[in-house]
Amino acid sequence: MVKPLRKAVLPVAGLGTRFLPATKAMPKEMLPVVDKPLIQYAVDEARAAGIDQFCMVTGRGKTALIDHFDIAFELEATLAERNKREALDLLREEAMPPGAITTVRQQVPLGLGHAIWCARTFIGDDPFAILLPDDLVLSKTPCTQQLVNVYNETGGNVVAISEVPREQTNRYGILKTGKIEGDLVEVTGMVEKPKPEDAPSNLSIIGRYVMLPEVITYLSRMEAGAGNEVQLTDAMAKMIGEKPFHGLKFEGQRFDCGDKIGFLEAQIAFSLARTDLSPAVREFLKKYVNA
Ligand code: G1P
Repeated sequence: MVKPLRKAVLPVAGLGTRFLPATKAMPKEMLPVVDKPLIQYAVDEARAAGIDQFCMVTGRGKTALIDHFDIAFELEATLAERNKREALDLLREEAMPPGAITTVRQQVPLGLGHAIWCARTFIGDDPFAILLPDDLVLSKTPCTQQLVNVYNETGGNVVAISEVPREQTNRYGILKTGKIEGDLVEVTGMVEKPKPEDAPSNLSIIGRYVMLPEVITYLSRMEAGAGNEVQLTDAMAKMIGEKPFHGLKFEGQRFDCGDKIGFLEAQIAFSLARTDLSPAVREFLKKYVNA
């Protein structure tokens, strides 16, 4: 019996410089895709996979993320008074149980690995998921659930992976692979942001992970890697061989919402996936595409 996965860490300390000026006074994770902020897609996806304990690794200027998951008393009272049932139900459906979210601060931006290490007390001896809210996945089964299914079978570490063009390997963590069975890939090595000529494959890690707590031991060494940052990929690489480690070619499409084009594509894809919006969106898209 594997330990059930109940915890998720959400690294949200990034500055969002690629989205200035939108992110000058607002965390980038509050940027909406259609009508929901990125952070909420991540939280909803994790909750759908049975996760009920969250730790946001924040930085200065990120208070809106915490407020977003609080109860908005005045807003709810006004909606109730005006009989706006639908809006009120929406807020109440999404409300988090008291104490479900804790936050820690990453005071200095020393890398993704360092951000995860900042959540070590929350993680304790438990397995945990990591969701990078910049990465949005549109799929039939939520991506984290797909990883949890693999974790429940293997009891080991699992990362979501997808193929990328060779020339883009320097943007991602890239896997070295062993046995491949259908969508499941045995991981034998990984390297952070290799040059195309040095990349061991074109299978990239996307921002969804299920990790065993042992990763914290390796992160504690604080060894600087690519970009002189403490890299999660380097710590994960050190765990290979100790416990099962797999990459899952997940079902679905991933959008890099940390990038303008990826973000715009996500708006289109997510609105077309909505029955209330897709007819109108299809209609107006024709106008622009044929112009
Ligand atoms: C991070 C990870 C990288 C991973 C990527 C997925 O990089 O370090 O291994 O492939 O997320 O989005 P970042 O995008 O923070 O540079």
